[in-house]
Amino acid sequence: MEVVILPTPEDCGRVVADIVARVVRQGTPHNRPTLGLATGSSPLLAYQELIRRHREEGLSFAGVQTFNLDEYVGLPAEHPESYRSVIRREFTAHLDIADEDVHGPQGDHPDPLVAAREYEHRVRDGGPVAVQLLGIGANGHVGFNEPSSSLNSVTRVKTLTAQTRQDNARFFDRLEDVPHHVITQGLGTIGRAEHLVLTASGSAKASAVAAGVEGPLTASCPASVLQLHPHATVIVDEEAAAQLKRADYYRYTLDHKLSHQPH
Ligand code: F6R
Repeated sequence: MEVVILPTPEDCGRVVADIVARVVRQGTPHNRPTLGLATGSSPLLAYQELIRRHREEGLSFAGVQTFNLDEYVGLPAEHPESYRSVIRREFTAHLDIADEDVHGPQGDHPDPLVAAREYEHRVRDGGPVAVQLLGIGANGHVGFNEPSSSLNSVTRVKTLTAQTRQDNARFFDRLEDVPHHVITQGLGTIGRAEHLVLTASGSAKASAVAAGVEGPLTASCPASVLQLHPHATVIVDEEAAAQLKRADYYRYTLDHKLSHQPH
Protein backbone atom coordinates (compact mmCIF):
# COMPACT_ATOMS: atom_id res chain seq x y z
CA MET A 1 0.00 0.00 0.00
CA GLU A 2 1.23 3.48 -0.81
CA VAL A 3 0.23 6.30 1.52
CA VAL A 4 0.49 9.80 0.06
CA ILE A 5 0.21 12.65 2.55
CA LEU A 6 -0.37 16.07 1.01
CA PRO A 7 -0.87 19.52 2.54
CA THR A 8 -4.45 20.22 1.40
CA PRO A 9 -7.60 18.51 0.10
CA GLU A 10 -7.05 20.33 -3.22
CA ASP A 11 -3.62 18.69 -3.55
CA CYS A 12 -5.26 15.30 -2.90
CA GLY A 13 -7.88 16.02 -5.57
CA ARG A 14 -5.17 16.80 -8.13
CA VAL A 15 -3.25 13.57 -7.45
CA VAL A 16 -6.43 11.47 -7.61
CA ALA A 17 -7.26 13.24 -10.89
CA ASP A 18 -3.75 12.43 -12.23
CA ILE A 19 -4.36 8.72 -11.60
CA VAL A 20 -7.79 8.73 -13.26
CA ALA A 21 -6.54 10.81 -16.21
CA ARG A 22 -3.71 8.35 -16.83
CA VAL A 23 -6.18 5.44 -17.05
CA VAL A 24 -8.52 7.43 -19.30
CA ARG A 25 -5.69 8.38 -21.68
CA GLN A 26 -4.49 4.78 -21.93
CA GLY A 27 -7.90 3.52 -23.09
CA THR A 28 -8.64 2.45 -26.65
CA PRO A 29 -11.95 1.64 -28.40
CA HIS A 30 -11.08 -2.07 -28.00
CA ASN A 31 -10.01 -1.66 -24.42
CA ARG A 32 -12.45 0.84 -22.99
CA PRO A 33 -11.29 2.30 -19.69
CA THR A 34 -13.50 1.42 -16.74
CA LEU A 35 -13.72 3.67 -13.70
CA GLY A 36 -15.23 2.82 -10.32
CA LEU A 37 -16.84 5.92 -8.82
CA ALA A 38 -17.62 6.84 -5.23
CA THR A 39 -20.10 9.46 -4.12
CA GLY A 40 -20.00 11.61 -0.97
CA SER A 41 -17.74 14.61 -0.41
CA SER A 42 -14.33 12.92 -0.61
CA PRO A 43 -13.91 12.56 -4.40
CA LEU A 44 -15.57 15.88 -5.32
CA LEU A 45 -12.36 17.90 -5.72
CA ALA A 46 -10.94 15.18 -7.97
CA TYR A 47 -14.12 15.21 -10.05
CA GLN A 48 -13.94 19.01 -10.34
CA GLU A 49 -10.30 18.82 -11.42
CA LEU A 50 -11.13 16.18 -14.05
CA ILE A 51 -13.99 18.31 -15.38
CA ARG A 52 -11.57 21.24 -15.60
CA ARG A 53 -9.05 19.13 -17.53
CA HIS A 54 -11.81 17.98 -19.86
CA ARG A 55 -12.88 21.57 -20.56
CA GLU A 56 -9.51 23.28 -20.62
CA GLU A 57 -7.05 20.59 -21.64
CA GLY A 58 -9.13 18.40 -23.93
CA LEU A 59 -9.05 15.29 -21.74
CA SER A 60 -11.65 13.09 -23.42
CA PHE A 61 -13.71 10.48 -21.59
CA ALA A 62 -15.30 9.11 -24.78
CA GLY A 63 -15.73 5.34 -24.45
CA VAL A 64 -15.18 5.35 -20.68
CA GLN A 65 -17.55 3.15 -18.66
CA THR A 66 -18.23 3.90 -15.02
CA PHE A 67 -19.61 1.81 -12.19
CA ASN A 68 -20.97 3.40 -9.04
CA LEU A 69 -20.10 1.78 -5.75
CA ASP A 70 -23.51 1.90 -4.17
CA GLU A 71 -27.09 3.18 -4.12
CA TYR A 72 -29.86 3.88 -1.63
CA VAL A 73 -32.67 1.34 -1.64
CA GLY A 74 -36.00 2.92 -2.51
CA LEU A 75 -34.73 6.02 -4.30
CA PRO A 76 -35.54 6.15 -8.02
CA ALA A 77 -32.66 7.13 -10.31
CA GLU A 78 -34.16 10.60 -10.83
CA HIS A 79 -34.31 11.40 -7.07
CA PRO A 80 -31.80 14.25 -6.52
CA GLU A 81 -29.99 12.31 -3.79
CA SER A 82 -29.86 8.94 -5.56
CA TYR A 83 -26.23 8.17 -6.24
CA ARG A 84 -27.12 7.93 -9.94
CA SER A 85 -28.21 11.58 -9.83
CA VAL A 86 -25.29 12.68 -7.69
CA ILE A 87 -22.67 11.14 -9.99
CA ARG A 88 -24.38 12.59 -13.04
CA ARG A 89 -24.69 16.05 -11.47
CA GLU A 90 -21.21 16.22 -9.93
CA PHE A 91 -19.23 14.45 -12.62
CA THR A 92 -20.40 12.58 -15.70
CA ALA A 93 -22.90 15.14 -17.07
CA HIS A 94 -19.97 17.55 -17.50
CA LEU A 95 -17.93 15.08 -19.56
CA ASP A 96 -18.25 13.31 -22.91
CA ILE A 97 -19.38 10.06 -21.24
CA ALA A 98 -22.55 8.55 -22.67
CA ASP A 99 -25.28 8.27 -20.03
CA GLU A 100 -25.77 4.57 -20.82
CA ASP A 101 -22.13 3.97 -19.89
CA VAL A 102 -22.74 5.23 -16.34
CA HIS A 103 -23.79 2.20 -14.31
CA GLY A 104 -25.16 1.84 -10.81
CA PRO A 105 -27.40 -0.45 -8.80
CA GLN A 106 -31.14 0.03 -9.39
CA GLY A 107 -32.31 1.51 -6.09
CA ASP A 108 -36.01 1.30 -6.88
CA HIS A 109 -36.02 -2.28 -8.17
CA PRO A 110 -39.09 -4.10 -6.80
CA ASP A 111 -36.72 -6.60 -5.18
CA PRO A 112 -33.47 -5.03 -3.94
CA LEU A 113 -31.96 -8.50 -3.41
CA VAL A 114 -32.37 -9.19 -7.12
CA ALA A 115 -31.04 -5.73 -8.02
CA ALA A 116 -27.92 -6.44 -5.97
CA ARG A 117 -27.28 -9.77 -7.72
CA GLU A 118 -27.85 -8.18 -11.13
CA TYR A 119 -25.39 -5.39 -10.35
CA GLU A 120 -22.72 -7.81 -9.17
CA HIS A 121 -22.99 -9.53 -12.59
CA ARG A 122 -22.88 -6.21 -14.41
CA VAL A 123 -19.69 -5.14 -12.62
CA ARG A 124 -18.14 -8.55 -13.26
CA ASP A 125 -19.06 -8.51 -16.97
CA GLY A 126 -17.93 -4.91 -17.46
CA GLY A 127 -14.73 -5.27 -15.45
CA PRO A 128 -12.12 -5.36 -14.39
CA VAL A 129 -12.45 -1.82 -13.10
CA ALA A 130 -9.11 -0.15 -13.85
CA VAL A 131 -9.24 2.33 -10.99
CA GLN A 132 -11.73 2.31 -8.14
CA LEU A 133 -12.14 5.56 -6.20
CA LEU A 134 -13.06 5.18 -2.55
CA GLY A 135 -13.92 7.42 0.37
CA ILE A 136 -13.95 6.16 3.94
CA GLY A 137 -16.64 6.49 6.58
CA ALA A 138 -15.78 7.70 10.08
CA ASN A 139 -16.40 4.09 11.16
CA GLY A 140 -14.04 2.67 8.52
CA HIS A 141 -16.66 1.68 5.95
CA VAL A 142 -15.82 1.64 2.24
CA GLY A 143 -18.66 1.63 -0.22
CA PHE A 144 -21.44 0.98 2.24
CA ASN A 145 -19.74 -2.04 3.73
CA GLU A 146 -20.34 -1.23 7.36
CA PRO A 147 -18.18 -2.76 10.12
CA SER A 148 -18.71 -6.55 10.32
CA SER A 149 -18.96 -6.83 6.51
CA SER A 150 -17.24 -9.93 5.17
CA LEU A 151 -13.88 -9.02 3.68
CA ASN A 152 -14.86 -11.20 0.72
CA SER A 153 -18.42 -9.95 0.30
CA VAL A 154 -20.13 -9.38 -3.05
CA THR A 155 -22.78 -6.81 -3.99
CA ARG A 156 -25.72 -7.09 -1.62
CA VAL A 157 -28.21 -5.16 0.48
CA LYS A 158 -26.81 -3.66 3.69
CA THR A 159 -28.41 -1.78 6.58
CA LEU A 160 -26.74 1.55 7.32
CA THR A 161 -25.53 2.19 10.84
CA ALA A 162 -27.19 5.01 12.77
CA GLN A 163 -23.91 6.96 12.50
CA THR A 164 -23.77 6.69 8.70
CA ARG A 165 -27.39 7.80 8.36
CA GLN A 166 -26.60 10.74 10.63
CA ASP A 167 -23.44 11.57 8.61
CA ASN A 168 -25.41 11.51 5.34
CA ALA A 169 -28.41 13.44 6.69
CA ARG A 170 -26.72 16.64 5.44
CA PHE A 171 -27.75 15.69 1.91
CA PHE A 172 -31.43 15.30 2.82
CA ASP A 173 -34.06 17.64 4.29
CA ARG A 174 -34.52 15.49 7.39
CA LEU A 175 -32.78 12.55 9.03
CA GLU A 176 -35.97 10.51 8.56
CA ASP A 177 -35.55 10.87 4.79
CA VAL A 178 -32.22 9.00 4.74
CA PRO A 179 -32.95 5.43 3.64
CA HIS A 180 -32.05 2.63 6.05
CA HIS A 181 -30.91 0.27 3.31
CA VAL A 182 -28.43 0.41 0.48
CA ILE A 183 -27.13 -1.81 -2.29
CA THR A 184 -23.36 -1.78 -2.17
CA GLN A 185 -20.56 -3.48 -4.02
CA GLY A 186 -19.00 -5.93 -1.59
CA LEU A 187 -15.43 -5.76 -0.36
CA GLY A 188 -14.63 -8.72 -2.62
CA THR A 189 -16.22 -6.94 -5.58
CA ILE A 190 -14.21 -3.79 -4.87
CA GLY A 191 -11.06 -5.86 -4.47
CA ARG A 192 -11.31 -7.11 -8.08
CA ALA A 193 -10.48 -3.61 -9.33
CA GLU A 194 -6.91 -3.29 -10.58
CA HIS A 195 -6.11 -0.17 -8.55
CA LEU A 196 -7.84 1.03 -5.38
CA VAL A 197 -7.50 4.75 -4.63
CA LEU A 198 -8.88 5.85 -1.29
CA THR A 199 -8.96 9.55 -0.51
CA ALA A 200 -9.87 11.33 2.71
CA SER A 201 -9.46 14.75 4.24
CA GLY A 202 -10.20 16.40 7.55
CA SER A 203 -9.72 15.40 11.17
CA ALA A 204 -13.04 13.50 11.36
CA LYS A 205 -11.44 10.80 9.18
CA ALA A 206 -8.11 10.55 11.02
CA SER A 207 -8.90 7.60 13.26
CA ALA A 208 -10.61 5.60 10.48
CA VAL A 209 -7.64 6.21 8.15
CA ALA A 210 -5.19 5.06 10.83
CA ALA A 211 -7.26 1.95 11.59
CA GLY A 212 -7.59 1.05 7.91
CA VAL A 213 -3.96 1.62 6.99
CA GLU A 214 -2.10 0.55 10.13
CA GLY A 215 -4.59 -1.40 12.21
CA PRO A 216 -5.27 -5.13 12.01
CA LEU A 217 -6.96 -6.69 8.99
CA THR A 218 -10.47 -7.02 10.32
CA ALA A 219 -14.11 -6.90 9.31
CA SER A 220 -14.48 -4.41 12.15
CA CYS A 221 -12.67 -1.89 9.94
CA PRO A 222 -13.71 -2.68 6.35
CA ALA A 223 -11.09 -0.26 4.93
CA SER A 224 -8.38 -2.56 6.28
CA VAL A 225 -9.15 -4.84 3.32
CA LEU A 226 -6.96 -2.48 1.27
CA GLN A 227 -4.01 -4.10 3.04
CA LEU A 228 -4.69 -7.26 1.00
CA HIS A 229 -4.75 -5.52 -2.36
CA PRO A 230 -1.69 -5.61 -4.66
CA HIS A 231 -2.19 -1.98 -5.76
CA ALA A 232 -3.79 0.31 -3.21
CA THR A 233 -3.04 4.03 -2.86
CA VAL A 234 -4.29 6.09 0.07
CA ILE A 235 -4.23 9.84 -0.58
CA VAL A 236 -4.89 11.98 2.48
CA ASP A 237 -4.39 15.53 3.66
CA GLU A 238 -2.43 16.37 6.81
CA GLU A 239 -5.52 16.37 9.03
CA ALA A 240 -6.71 12.97 7.91
CA ALA A 241 -3.12 11.67 8.31
CA ALA A 242 -2.77 12.98 11.86
CA GLN A 243 -3.05 9.58 13.59
CA LEU A 244 -0.77 7.62 11.24
CA LYS A 245 2.18 6.27 13.24
CA ARG A 246 4.40 5.78 10.20
CA ALA A 247 3.63 9.18 8.62
CA ASP A 248 7.33 10.07 8.49
CA TYR A 249 8.11 6.91 6.54
CA TYR A 250 5.29 7.61 4.06
CA ARG A 251 6.63 11.12 3.50
CA TYR A 252 10.18 9.80 3.12
CA THR A 253 8.94 7.22 0.58
CA LEU A 254 7.19 9.91 -1.42
CA ASP A 255 10.32 12.07 -1.44
CA HIS A 256 12.38 9.12 -2.71
CA LYS A 257 9.99 7.77 -5.32
CA LEU A 258 11.65 6.62 -8.54
CA SER A 259 11.01 9.21 -11.24
CA HIS A 260 9.21 6.67 -13.49
CA GLN A 261 7.24 5.05 -10.63
CA PRO A 262 3.58 6.16 -10.81
CA HIS A 263 1.15 6.08 -7.88
C1 F6R B 1 -20.20 6.63 -1.15
C2 F6R B 1 -19.46 5.68 -0.36
C3 F6R B 1 -19.08 5.95 1.05
C4 F6R B 1 -18.40 7.29 1.24
C5 F6R B 1 -18.05 7.50 2.72
C6 F6R B 1 -17.38 8.83 2.95
O1 F6R B 1 -20.39 6.13 -2.47
O2 F6R B 1 -19.18 4.67 -0.89
O3 F6R B 1 -18.22 4.93 1.49
O4 F6R B 1 -17.24 7.33 0.48
O5 F6R B 1 -19.23 7.44 3.46
O6 F6R B 1 -18.29 9.85 2.67
P1 F6R B 1 -17.80 11.36 2.51
O7 F6R B 1 -16.86 11.34 1.36
O8 F6R B 1 -19.04 12.13 2.21
O9 F6R B 1 -17.14 11.73 3.78
